[in-house]
Amino acid sequence: MIRALVPGSFDPPTKGHLDVVERCAGIFDDVVVAVVVNPAKEALFSADERVELLEACCVAWENVSVDMFSGLLVDFAADNGVDVIVKGLRAMTDFDYEIQMSQMNRHLSGIVTLFVATKPEYGYLSSSLVRQVRSLGGSVDELVPQPVATALKEKFSR
Ligand code: PNS
Repeated sequence: MIRALVPGSFDPPTKGHLDVVERCAGIFDDVVVAVVVNPAKEALFSADERVELLEACCVAWENVSVDMFSGLLVDFAADNGVDVIVKGLRAMTDFDYEIQMSQMNRHLSGIVTLFVATKPEYGYLSSSLVRQVRSLGGSVDELVPQPVATALKEKFSR
């Protein structure tokens, strides 16, 4: 059995993220989507809210579970019997950052990171742009899963 880990901030989850998770669900026996808890970084959605949103978005895939972690990703991976880390890649700018992290993680524990190329139509999509556009009144409904669109509406109507 091969267990894959898809880690991230997911603040909020986008259709780009879900595309990566969906493809992992079709390739690996078991997929853990893990939200990083970083108290030093101000987030729009709390870690609990992000886990709830991801659970709602992933409900159709029986081999996908959602969790959260703090501390080192490689420690979470070891504690949870993870075989491989999977990250989505949009452009070369992602590559520079992601290759560095994957090599550090490999140095720390020997774990393998695989990269999934993002669907071209989501190549420009990021959680930070979704937050910015939505906070300024723009529509992001086509870019995020339905539960996230609803949560963003509630968040910005307060
Ligand atoms: O959504 P992101 O910002 O691409 O996710 C980044 C994440 C959560 C994968 C990365 O920040 C991470 O692994 N954080 C945990 C702390 C850690 O292990 N740092 C060393 C990584 S080389």
